[in-house]
Amino acid sequence: MAPSPPLLLLLLVLTGLGLAAAQPEGPFPPFQQQRSTNAADAAALRAVFQQWGLAAAAGAPEEDPCQKRVWLQSFATNASIDCGCDAANGECRITHLNVTGFWNISVIPPALFNLTELVSLDLSNNNLSGSIPPEVSNLSKLETWHFNNNKLSGPFPNESSRLGSLQSLWMFDNYIEGLLPEFIANFTNLTDLRIYGMKLRGPIPKNFSNLINLEKLMLGDLDGGNSTFNFIADWANLSTLSLRKCGIIDQLPSTPPKLPKLTYLDLRSNNLSGSIQQLLPYRSSRYLYVGENNFSGQLPSEIVQSSLALDISYNPLLNGSLPNIPADRKWPINYIGTSIDASRTINSENLTLLNCLGMKECNRTSYTNPITSFAVNCGGKQKTYQDSLPITFSDDTSNLGAAGIHVDTDKQWVVSHVGSDPVVSESPGIVNTNQGFLGVDMPELYQTARTSRSALSYYVVGLSNGKYTVQLFFAEIVIDSQLNHGPGRRLFNIDIQDQNIKTDFDITKEAGGFRRPMNITYEVTVDNPVLKIHLYWNGRGTCCIPYEGAYGPLVSAIRVFRPKNPNNIPPPTPPRSARPDNKRRGVVVGIAALCIAMAVISSSVAYLWWKWVSLVKHPNA
Ligand SMILES: *[C@@H]1O[C@H](CO)[C@@H](O)[C@H](O)[C@H]1NC(C)=O
Ligand SMILES: *[C@@H]1O[C@H](CO)[C@@H](O)[C@H](O)[C@H]1NC(C)=O
Ligand SMILES: *[C@@H]1O[C@H](CO)[C@@H](O)[C@H](O)[C@H]1NC(C)=O
Ligand SMILES: *[C@@H]1O[C@H](CO)[C@@H](O)[C@H](O)[C@H]1NC(C)=O
Ligand SMILES: *[C@@H]1O[C@H](CO)[C@@H](O)[C@H](O)[C@H]1NC(C)=O
Ligand SMILES: *[C@@H]1O[C@H](CO)[C@@H](O)[C@H](O)[C@H]1NC(C)=O
Ligand SMILES: *[C@@H]1O[C@H](CO)[C@@H](O)[C@H](O)[C@H]1NC(C)=O
Ligand SMILES: *[C@@H]1O[C@H](CO)[C@@H](O)[C@H](O)[C@H]1NC(C)=O
Ligand SMILES: *[C@@H]1O[C@H](CO)[C@@H](O)[C@H](O)[C@H]1NC(C)=O
Ligand SMILES: *[C@@H]1O[C@H](CO)[C@@H](O)[C@H](O)[C@H]1NC(C)=O
Ligand SMILES: *[C@@H]1O[C@H](CO)[C@@H](O)[C@H](O)[C@H]1NC(C)=O
Ligand SMILES: *[C@@H]1O[C@H](CO)[C@@H](O)[C@H](O)[C@H]1NC(C)=O
Repeated sequence: MAPSPPLLLLLLVLTGLGLAAAQPEGPFPPFQQQRSTNAADAAALRAVFQQWGLAAAAGAPEEDPCQKRVWLQSFATNASIDCGCDAANGECRITHLNVTGFWNISVIPPALFNLTELVSLDLSNNNLSGSIPPEVSNLSKLETWHFNNNKLSGPFPNESSRLGSLQSLWMFDNYIEGLLPEFIANFTNLTDLRIYGMKLRGPIPKNFSNLINLEKLMLGDLDGGNSTFNFIADWANLSTLSLRKCGIIDQLPSTPPKLPKLTYLDLRSNNLSGSIQQLLPYRSSRYLYVGENNFSGQLPSEIVQSSLALDISYNPLLNGSLPNIPADRKWPINYIGTSIDASRTINSENLTLLNCLGMKECNRTSYTNPITSFAVNCGGKQKTYQDSLPITFSDDTSNLGAAGIHVDTDKQWVVSHVGSDPVVSESPGIVNTNQGFLGVDMPELYQTARTSRSALSYYVVGLSNGKYTVQLFFAEIVIDSQLNHGPGRRLFNIDIQDQNIKTDFDITKEAGGFRRPMNITYEVTVDNPVLKIHLYWNGRGTCCIPYEGAYGPLVSAIRVFRPKNPNNIPPPTPPRSARPDNKRRGVVVGIAALCIAMAVISSSVAYLWWKWVSLVKHPNA
């Protein structure tokens, strides 16, 4: 017998009440089973999941999406939805879609744009390619749209201008090109905007100053047009301002904007000029990165007193002496590559070496004992191995904080580091693993590494003139992604003697997997006493896998030696090789084959161990 109309009405009201009480999370009480997903939404979702190969995981076709909600979920992958249900008729619309961390998802299914009630769409850390279709304008209710860490190309379509409700837009690490779109300035509800590691061109539009609700603004890697600071306004809620490599040619605003909540300011790698005194209004920020600019003058002591992380490196016109460094200051200051006179500094380490790095020829007579070899165990303790002669890898365990340098007077080298993750702020500079490395010379070297969110440099001072082989040792020990099978990717650039030798270098890919050792060699000629090795982040690679801040360069050890037979040295690595060539791929495959037996045994143990550690350390990751 069918229920009479009044009874039906009562049922509906009860369901509605139940709904209102149980919003929005948690398992459904049995009486809510009445609710069902809007048929068009359900069909669209089914089509989307079908195209992504997730249909099987989605279970039986008659299963209701809004009741199921979670399909696949692990530390870095997520296939889940959330729904908003109408209390009156029990119909649910899909409001949240999160499909992240699938290395094998490469297309954007057209049916996605039928989910017009979406408020949050997270498709980050997949393998999406092609361009963003104009139909994206159908998703006009989006407040969160993350498609960072994919391979999307083409322009950011003008139709996106209709997404005026956006609050969080993350599109970093893609190949999106064209001008940085001006219409983004119309998204005045934006609180979090992250655009870097792409092919977009500047300038930063002036009317970005309309984005008064911003809390985090991270722009970077803009080519082309020159920007000024005319887009900066009084942003009352702004805490993170990162404008790394934005082509800004300007002085800091003479009337400083009011940014009362600013804690992280990164203006590295622009062309900022004027007196460093103009940085004073920003000194309440805990992190100040202004390296690789053109500031001049004397560093004000107020900045040294109050800021936590201070990077003023590579501002060649900065001069005078370093102000007194308070004893309770947690971290050193990174002032490498300036004209600051280190010798007049109290509390500083012995800095003849540093003065030598002032981008000028060193006074050679200061080096009575020129060296002909060098080795360092990056992030690790001193370690000696027997080759034909003993090789001693220097200790490199000093804590450089979020910006700092360490000067080793005995062995005549300097390490410089700059960078912290703007979200977690304090990121580890040294990482290590207990895992042993089998079948490789000097296995202990790979158990520690130095890493940096932004830039890591090693300088060897006082090498006698001649040809050298620079050997860099790597093993990925943080981001556990099987070769091409996991979402995590660490990419960075390597320059030696100011020449770019690797772009978007991927240790895991080159070594054939996680925790696999590898090395690269490069031949250089040293004809002034300084050898520079520079490793730096280029805006690409995943930011947050397995935890926020797990990106940027990583290196296990460095060795510099005279080629055994200088007339018979291998040809130098071709410069500017953006991608591994086939030959290298062949080597990688070879290494992979050799390592397979070991990997089979170790990877499951390692994975379980890692999983356990990440659960203990990052229960929310
Ligand atoms: C998406 O919407 C269009 C137009 O409303 C419709 O023709 C199409 O069948 C829908 N696709 C799916 C998979 O639901
Ligand atoms: C992608 O991988 C998932 C498991 O990680 C699998 O369920 C799905 O079928 C794959 N999709 C495609 C298109 O191969
Ligand atoms: C989507 O899932 C990933 C992985 O679980 C998570 O890190 C991310 O925060 C989720 N996105 C949203 C918008 O909830
Ligand atoms: C997966 O995504 C949903 C939103 O769609 C979110 O609520 C959930 O927290 C995410 N899972 C993790 C582990 O982040
Ligand atoms: C990722 O996308 C590229 C094309 O951009 C494709 O060549 C590659 O096979 C895809 N990877 C996987 C695992 O599907
Ligand atoms: C979706 O977008 C396309 C192209 O912008 C448009 O023609 C279509 O009418 C839109 N559909 C809906 C349901 O808004
Ligand atoms: C911006 O946010 C306010 C307050 O939450 C809201 O009233 C307004 O509709 C939003 N604007 C857009 C374009 O969504
Ligand atoms: C921004 O919005 C205004 C008002 O809606 C509109 O006139 C203008 O064309 C928009 N700007 C861009 C660049 O889309
Ligand atoms: C940017 O500035 C540089 C130096 O001032 C100048 O040479 C260049 O032409 C400018 N580029 C553009 C696109 O205006
Ligand atoms: C710096 O080095 C020089 C030469 O090695 C030495 O004579 C001097 O004492 C050192 N200064 C300090 C402050 O360590
Ligand atoms: C180089 O050093 C020597 C000895 O320390 C000193 O006598 C000489 O003046 C220096 N030359 C220059 C150009 O600084
Ligand atoms: C460096 O890598 C090569 C293979 O590319 C390997 O043959 C060699 O043994 C490695 N050197 C060291 C010291 O591990």
